[in-house]
Amino acid sequence: MTSYEKLLRENKSWAEAQIQIDPEFFSRLSEIQTPEFLWIGCSDSRVPADKITGTQPGEIFVHRNIANMVVHTDINLLSVLEYAVDVLKVKHIIVCGHYGCGGIRAAMGNHSLGIINKWLRNIKDIYRIHKDEIENEITEENKTNKLVELNVKEQVMNLAKTSIIQKAWKHQNGPQLHGWVYGLNDGIIKPVCEMEPGSAIDPLYVYDNL
Ligand code: CO
Repeated sequence: MTSYEKLLRENKSWAEAQIQIDPEFFSRLSEIQTPEFLWIGCSDSRVPADKITGTQPGEIFVHRNIANMVVHTDINLLSVLEYAVDVLKVKHIIVCGHYGCGGIRAAMGNHSLGIINKWLRNIKDIYRIHKDEIENEITEENKTNKLVELNVKEQVMNLAKTSIIQKAWKHQNGPQLHGWVYGLNDGIIKPVCEMEPGSAIDPLYVYDNL
């Protein structure tokens, strides 16, 4: 059996087990999804949103990219965000980074990696803004992990800078924004920041006609 055939076999037994536990599982979920959470995480295969949070299908709306970025020109992220906020009306948006992130590490290096250079540029900008704080750390690992945390905070701030979030904060009094970092070593998520609806941001980024 090839590796991908194993996936299909596992899928069959998973579906059968679900029906054993809850006969209405698929008929209920095929009608509607009402997730309370939007998860913006890293593409890293070791950080699966549902497994590490013990959530079930239907509970988390997920967007993942390299280094869990909120980039204002990313039509994919913006489409997910707008749908999650305006239609699904999620109550919480979680940006979850992880220690030892390869994307963050690559952004701290000087190798040209092709197209991904453009993506990592966004992280280099964050490094530049927080250079002193990062370079205060002694080891390379600690520097990387400091940037992981700072990146999550910046991405939460990037959410608050979108008209999508500002409009929702004004008219829906939600969602709440959370910045988390997952530890590959121990499996534990550490919350690093939070923004309540209506939190103050730099006035330069506030839209006054939403
Ligand atoms: Co990563």
